[in-house]
Parts: sequence; C-alpha cells; structure tokens
Amino acid sequence: MNDLFVSLVIPTYNERENIGPAIQRASQVLATAARDFEIIVVDDNSPDGTGAAVQQVMATNGRVRLITRTTDRDLSRAVVEGWRHARGNVLAVMDGDLQHPPETLADLLQPLRQGEGEIAIASRHVRGGGVSHWSLWRRASSWGAACVATFFLPGILRHVKDPMSGFFALRRRVLEGVRLHPQGYKILLDVLMHGRFATVVEVPYIFEERFRGGSKLGKKQVGQFFARLFRLSVESGHAARLGKYLVTGSVGGVVTLGSLMLLRAVTDLPLVSAYSLAVELAILNNFLLNEFWTFADATTARVGLRTRVIRFLRFNGTCVWGAGFNVGTFLGLREVVQLPVALAGLAGVAVGYVWNYGVNANATWLDLFPPQARRAAVESRERRTQDRRSLPSPGYYHEAYTHGNRVQRFWHRGKFGRVLSRPRPHPILDVGSGPGVLSALLRNGSHLVVSLDRSFEVIRFAKETHPELCGVVADVRHLPFRPGHFRTIFFVEVIEHIPAQWSLDVLRELRDMLHPAGRLILTTPNYRSLWPALEWMVSRWGPIDYTKEHVNHYSPARLEREVRDAGLTVIRAESFFVVAPFLAWLSERAAWKAMDVERRWCGRWGSLLLLEAGRT
Ligand code: GDD
Ligand code: MN
Repeated sequence: MNDLFVSLVIPTYNERENIGPAIQRASQVLATAARDFEIIVVDDNSPDGTGAAVQQVMATNGRVRLITRTTDRDLSRAVVEGWRHARGNVLAVMDGDLQHPPETLADLLQPLRQGEGEIAIASRHVRGGGVSHWSLWRRASSWGAACVATFFLPGILRHVKDPMSGFFALRRRVLEGVRLHPQGYKILLDVLMHGRFATVVEVPYIFEERFRGGSKLGKKQVGQFFARLFRLSVESGHAARLGKYLVTGSVGGVVTLGSLMLLRAVTDLPLVSAYSLAVELAILNNFLLNEFWTFADATTARVGLRTRVIRFLRFNGTCVWGAGFNVGTFLGLREVVQLPVALAGLAGVAVGYVWNYGVNANATWLDLFPPQARRAAVESRERRTQDRRSLPSPGYYHEAYTHGNRVQRFWHRGKFGRVLSRPRPHPILDVGSGPGVLSALLRNGSHLVVSLDRSFEVIRFAKETHPELCGVVADVRHLPFRPGHFRTIFFVEVIEHIPAQWSLDVLRELRDMLHPAGRLILTTPNYRSLWPALEWMVSRWGPIDYTKEHVNHYSPARLEREVRDAGLTVIRAESFFVVAPFLAWLSERAAWKAMDVERRWCGRWGSLLLLEAGRT
C-alpha cells in the first residue's frame, strides 16, 4: 500500500531556464511513485524572473506552489521554509537546476514506502552513483569537505557516504518537534545531527552537469560550511570530545616523560627500550582515558573484553602512524623549510593530533552515530548507574584486597605499607575499619585493636573473618571510649566520606580519644593530583561510584589546616601513588621501587595523602 504524501521542496535562485523542466519531470515521477504530492518552489526573489517562470507552470499544474522570500538569501533556510508549508507525510528536497535527476525521486521514495529507512539520501558515493564530469580540483575539494565533516562529526561518513547531498527525502516524524536553525548549503547535516531516526538508506545517482546557469556555491558558502560544521559539532557534543582528546593527549605526553624518567631510574633498560616502553605506557594510559572518558558514550553497547582489546589494538596502530606523521612533519618543516624548532614541533604535534583524533573517532570508537545510537547509549548508561547505587557487599574491600587484580592488590598493599611504616603503640583504634583488613594487619600478638564502623553488617563481617578483633558500631562523632585512651588511632580513607561541615568535629573527637603522647594516622585522596581522574574511571568501572561517596575533597594544604584547627600538630605529611600502582600490572617489584622514587621526587602530587599528627 502506498501511503506517501510527498512534499517536494525545490529551492531556487536564478533558475529561470531550469525550473520548468525540473518541475515537469518531478511531477511525472511523483504521479506514479506517491499517493499524493505537492511541489513547493522556494525562490529567494531571483532577479532573473524564476518566480514568473514558476507561475507560468502553476497555470497548468495545480500541485505546484511558489513561496517567494524577499528578505533573506540562503539555501538551507529556504528549504526549511518550504518544509514549514508542507502538508505531506514525506518531506523531500531537490535542486532546481536539473543536476539532481528527478527520476531518482522514485528510488528515494521506495525505501520510505517499504519501511526500510526513515531517511533516504540520493548519494554520489554508493555503487552506481557518481559525478558526470568533475575536475580533479572539485573532486578533491568534495573529498576534503567530507573528511573535515567526519572530523567534527565523527562516525557520520561510516553511516552516510554522502552527507553533503542536497537531494533526499524523509518521513515527517524525523523532524517533528525538532527546531532546525540551518545556514548555508548543507541542510542534510543538520537533519542527520538533530533528526530523530533510526534508519538511513542511500540510493545511487549521477550528479549531472549543469544544464543552464551557474552554481551559486562561492567562497561565502564555503566559509558558512565550516562555521556550520563547528556549530553542529558543539550542539551534538562532539566538540567537547575534541577538547577531552586534547587533554588526554597532554596527559599522554606527561606520562611518556614521567615513565621514561622512572624507568631510567628503577631499571637499567637501554634508552631506546625505555623510551618505547614509556610510549607504550602512555598509549595504554590514553586508551583508558579515551575509552572511559572521551568516547565513553560510544562504548556502552560494546563493553566485552574482546571488543575492548580490538579497540586497543586499533588505537595502538593509529597512534603509531600518528607518531610517524608527527615526526615526519617536524623533520620536513625543520630540515626542508627550515622553520624554528618550536614551530616545526608544534606543527608536528598538531598533525598527529588531527590524524589521531580523526582516525580513532571514526575507526576505533565506531558507534558515534546516528543520534539514536547515542541516545540509546545514554539511557543504558543511566540504567547501569542505577543498578550500582546499592552498596557493595560488606566484604567488598576484603575481596579487593585478597582477590583483586594486580593493580588493585598493589594499591591496597602499597597503601597499608605506608600506613604501617610508622610505629604504632597499642591500644589501637581503627576508625572506619570496614571489613577489618587494616585492623587484622595491625594486630600483633596480644595488642588490643578496636575496630569501629558505622555499619553493623560490616563489623559483623570483620568479626567473622577476624575473630580476634574487637568490633564496635558507633557514630564517629560520639565515641564510646574514655578520653585519652588510645595510643594510636588510624583514620584511613574515612574523612572524605564525612560531609565537610562535620569533619572538623570528628577530628576533635579523635583528638580527645588520643593519649597525650599518641598518634593519629590519617589518609585521604589528594584532589590536587591525578586522583580525580582515577576516581572517575574507577567509578565507571567498579561497583562503587566514588564520585558520589566522596563528599569531602582535600588538598594537602586544606587537610593540614583542618588537622591543626582540631588542636593537633602535624608530625609528618607525605603523599604517594602517582603511577606506581599501575606498574604492578607489569611487575610488582618495579611498582614498589617506583613507589620509593615517587615518594622522594613527587612531593605532594601523590594520589593519597598520609598525615601523622599528635596532640599538642
Ligand atoms: N532559495 C534559494 N536561496 N535557493 C538557492 C540559493 C539561495 O540562496 N542558493 C542556491 N539555491 C538553489 C539553486 O538555485 C539550486 O536549485 C540549488 O539551490 C543548488 O544550488 P547550486 O548553486 O546549483 O549548487 P551546487 O550545484 O554547487 O551544489 C549542489 O551540489 C551539492 C553536491 O555537491 C547542491 O545541490 C548541494 O545541495 C549538493 O549537495
Ligand atoms: Mn547545482
């Protein structure tokens, strides 16, 4: 059954000689291909009398309407104006200069009728399509424009071979409720980025030579095209991706240099091997950042390990080529053109960036288009985060400590290694003990260790796993102990969970619990380090959303200030974990060594802050 009521819009500017035949041929096709149709010519008050020519046709063809716009001249806006007056359930557009053969309309309507596509595009770039006699220059610029388009709107070329086509048809519902603010020549880009559709099909056509008159595509239109691309990139969120990718790239640079220095310090690898390894580490680092940040929305539907590995290999390959282009550009500009080093270097980096982003966005992270795919991805992400809202099992940290992956295990061991490196006379209080991992490590012979937590479940788990512990459930703001009782109080990764307006009270309470010669040992994430990025990634991966759990963010300075305000003296302050834990993936020994190096050289840039304080 044919349900198509087609509203064909033909924009014109100075097409007096072409518009008559164009309308006539289109009418013939539509009479058989559609159930009903109308042809709306939108003329921008052409000085050559196009309007009069259309009126002449209207005298014998009742399906033709003419809209004359007198205050504006723009192809895309003319098309949108035509669609606003359209009554059909299918909106179509075709040039009025016969370069779009009207007979192709039949091929455009067929997939719409059969439900194969909600948008059908006449394409020069699918089998059977093409251009009749284009100069090499025009072919190259068309190709270049497509590359630029897919750089700013990644994924578009993968799904639509000819997104620059001005000849297409769509179901009206695709644009229902969508406000288009187009400009310039490429209305289809706006439709593709803002429309609501799930399926696009392309049908081939040959872009004919101009029959009469000349093209109106000039310098101004080219400028508009780039401006438009950028706007669409911002509107669709892709521009933000470009920024994120730039950040990731810079982090990669830092990781390369950092791990090179580290590898030179802790291993005796030759320079070339050390450098290659450093670069590979940076590539891995950047892959993770891109996978879970820059392109997070594109990966939600494909999170299996296998697809991740494939993406990683693609990313790796692209980056190696990118590095080649980077160096090649640098050497070329330096040696041949004799540019200053800084300029040549910058150009090399820019070329590498454009290549890396363009290829990875389009070939590594594939699912960036159409908008529906993005919308579905966002929804599935929301669902996932909701699933995780429930707290992890009481033994979660115990599991992570005993059975976690290498990096996880090293993270906890390394942290406790630092925490336990200080003398710790008993009795000991472990505040926020969780399932008792630290408490169990603290127990030494007949030492008394009291483990305190707000959660009954967690304390029960701790006591079942480590029967020797003395577990207490209490609100840390009101501790059920004699003042001045404990020689050592551990407060390991707790304070960041306490709302900022109470943390000072809690510290004061702990001070009161402390023996006059006692020590408070406190750790918390350092929000003046790479930690926020780590936290974000771990939150996306793991069962706990730390970005929500951590409500109190400390910098080294703020932590010390607050500890002093609570009436304590800072005895020692350090930070640890810059990249060391990630080396554990390769070798635990290297990670331990790296940790030492970091402690000595990285000052306050470690991801965790460790503070030892006493009573004044
Ligand atoms: N109303 C109105 N206002 N119509 C315009 C204007 C304008 O400012 N500028 C151009 N047109 C009309 C022309 O009269 C013609 O019917 C159609 O829009 C296309 O304009 P051309 O100037 O002939 O474009 P082109 O041949 O260079 O480019 C065509 O080819 C592209 C493929 O490379 C366009 O049709 C593109 O849409 C197409 O994708
Ligand atoms: Mn044309």
